[in-house]
Amino acid sequence: MIVCLCEGVNDREIRQGIESGCSNVREIGERLGAGAHCGQCRRQLRGLLREQASKPEFWSRGEAR
Ligand code: FES
Repeated sequence: MIVCLCEGVNDREIRQGIESGCSNVREIGERLGAGAHCGQCRRQLRGLLREQASKPEFWSRGEAR
């Protein structure tokens, strides 16, 4: 599902970005472009960040900063 219409970034790409080290909306914007324009998707980005952070395997992999 496309999350950021401005950049055409989907939820899978955002989840991968979070798993590879993006820890906030600004970092997602810098790496993927999502959220860096109109800002309409930032709420969804925060939701995906919370969702990924709530997974026990996210913390056990040592990828969270
Ligand atoms: S929809 Fe993501 S910045 Fe516009």
